[in-house]
Amino acid sequence: MGQTRPSSTMQMPATLFELRGLCKSFDPQVPLIADANLTVYEGETLALIGESGSGKSVLLKIMMGLMEPDEGEVLFRGKNVHMMDQPALDDMRRQVGYVFQNDALFDSMSVLDNIGYGMREHTKASDEDILERAQDCLEFVGLERWRVKLYPAELSGGQRKRVGVARAIAMRPKVLMYDEPTQGLDPQSITRIANLIIRLQKELNATSVIVTHDMRTAFTAADRIALLHEGRFEYVGSPAQFAYHDAEPVKEFIADALEEIQELPFLQAAHQASREDVTQTQIPPSPGAV
Ligand SMILES: Nc1ncnc2c1ncn2[C@@H]1O[C@H](COP(=O)(O)OP(=O)(O)OP(=O)(O)O)[C@@H](O)[C@H]1O
Ligand SMILES: [Mg+2]
Repeated sequence: MGQTRPSSTMQMPATLFELRGLCKSFDPQVPLIADANLTVYEGETLALIGESGSGKSVLLKIMMGLMEPDEGEVLFRGKNVHMMDQPALDDMRRQVGYVFQNDALFDSMSVLDNIGYGMREHTKASDEDILERAQDCLEFVGLERWRVKLYPAELSGGQRKRVGVARAIAMRPKVLMYDEPTQGLDPQSITRIANLIIRLQKELNATSVIVTHDMRTAFTAADRIALLHEGRFEYVGSPAQFAYHDAEPVKEFIADALEEIQELPFLQAAHQASREDVTQTQIPPSPGAV
């Protein structure tokens, strides 16, 4: 994963999020996020991986302006998220769909009201439009339209995850942030959600940030992978670069899934190609990446 600088002929993708020198800890003795730097490019799918408790969910919340960093800044399309006034924050959140870890559906609200929440809060859409959109979103995630009338307690875990995705896409966002979208699901549901993420990328042409422990999802869905290790992003690269990387933290993290990953034919092909020209990554790694 050598430092890949785009050549002058390569078109630079626009920057969507820029994380600069982010620091956050809840206990002064234990730094959690410590000088994290990362760029998310417009149109890419970035998988964010790291050990449990390494600060991935905290990082997403900081990016969304739901949590303050101790130091550093997050820029969204060039604007500092933590300096935005409420209308600017609302505007950003309209553009960014967020699939929370553990669904975070409102238990007291029906599926319709969960999915339609953003439209109700932020638009003047009529009840009929909201119902229509909610049903369309359900269909998109592979659930029947009649399920709008159910409550979260009446759904299975995988169905709740899918309603979480339906809620995130209801406002037709250009950016999707998924926090562990496949956690706790059976292999069939994991595949269904991973395919859904890939389909959303294609059909909405969305930029996606996926926090996941599931290496198959990370390696098949992402253009780039970023490993949050000891509070920083020292390792950022393409799936092929990650699959064959020899830095200890990378190897340790993906060891359990390595065989399965290295059998993915497109990764083998990309690895072969990258041997010939390691600079030909589609999207350049962020500054400071190895
Ligand atoms: N609001 C908070 N107050 C105090 N500590 C917090 C808070 N939010 C998170 N933490 C702590 O920060 C650390 C990182 O939490 P975070 O949820 O970001 O981990 P994670 O990388 O998402 O883990 P997982 O993969 O298990 O979801 C944890 O030790 C957690 O207890
Ligand atoms: Mg988490």
